[in-house]
Amino acid sequence: MAIIPVVPPLPDSLSFAGKSAVVTGANGGLGLAAALHLVQRNIATIILAAKRPETPYSPTPSFKSSPTSPPSSFMSLTLHAHPRSHPSRPKVLAEIPTLNIVILNAGMGSMDWKLTPEAETEEVFQVNFLSNAILSVRLLPLLRSSAESSCETSHLSIVGSRAIVVHSFTKQPVPDTSSVFAFVNDRAHFRALMRYSDSKLLVSMWVHELGKHVDPSLVIVNNVCPGMVKTNIDVNQPWWVRRIMGPLRWLAGRSTEVGARTLINAISAGKETHGEMLFDFTVWRNKFLEKEQGQKMEKKVWKETLAAAETSAPGSVEEAKLRD
Ligand SMILES: NC(=O)c1ccc[n+]([C@@H]2O[C@H](COP(=O)([O-])OP(=O)(O)OC[C@H]3O[C@@H](n4cnc5c(N)ncnc54)[C@H](OP(=O)(O)O)[C@@H]3O)[C@@H](O)[C@H]2O)c1
Repeated sequence: MAIIPVVPPLPDSLSFAGKSAVVTGANGGLGLAAALHLVQRNIATIILAAKRPETPYSPTPSFKSSPTSPPSSFMSLTLHAHPRSHPSRPKVLAEIPTLNIVILNAGMGSMDWKLTPEAETEEVFQVNFLSNAILSVRLLPLLRSSAESSCETSHLSIVGSRAIVVHSFTKQPVPDTSSVFAFVNDRAHFRALMRYSDSKLLVSMWVHELGKHVDPSLVIVNNVCPGMVKTNIDVNQPWWVRRIMGPLRWLAGRSTEVGARTLINAISAGKETHGEMLFDFTVWRNKFLEKEQGQKMEKKVWKETLAAAETSAPGSVEEAKLRD
């Protein structure tokens, strides 16, 4: 009996010919597997973003050995950095005229309370949520203009997690008087076991709001969970988590090739996924976002994220046409 549902193969007819894509966290795991799917399906240009793009995995052997490999560029990307230090548009993107697909896949799991050196925000919040949200603001104008010039919808998908089913905000609500960011960056509210799912819940709120502010005929935005996959995602977890998760992933986890199909489906999916969370290929509605508490929190997350994006690059929110 299968413990997790089977992910069907991608359709043979799926092709990305003529398109340009960015994949983050592309040096391994799901990011590299998603990039390989795109290459096998004739992507025209691919930009692989990784923390250390100069390390031996780039260009990856899989890319080098393929005679049909598309032009690929490597973009240095660290999500630990304070948003202020992100350039308004990474240099490598300034060199490409169009961008049709973005997969914001990079992420981490950890139960340690750690502050990012520059931003002094809590690390998992910064890496999984805030930096990805700000990146999406920065990339929207190019995704939108590319859709307008090609008359084909662009796609932006952020990798999330089913773990959001269990988060800390029901038991420990953000008070009406407090900002969400101040709350999650206060050590007194750090729930180690829940921090990963809390960060991914913020991602799903951000995507849900983006869905209300971005025209899906130009850019479809969504959030996707690939299920349990055999990757290095537990590398920063305490030994006892690795001791449990290692055998579990080995027994029941998907291969990266299979898990990454869900990412490729997300960036090929239609308007029914706009602003939504996908568990594998299926839209999943989060009941928390239908409650007053969840709705209030989502509005705050939206406003605070736009403010952070604006601080990071003045004018970027206007450029992304994301004003309330
Ligand atoms: N595996 C699963 O079961 C599973 C389930 C649900 C969701 N996910 C999500 O899937 C995504 C991909 O994870 P994975 O499973 O493929 O794990 P992975 O093999 O550990 O890949 C994570 C990627 O994110 C990059 N990354 C981590 N911290 C970063 C930072 N501060 N700045 C820039 N890049 C950073 C990593 O780069 P380095 O290698 O250089 O650190 C790596 O490329 C994550 O968002 C994860 O939360 C995974």
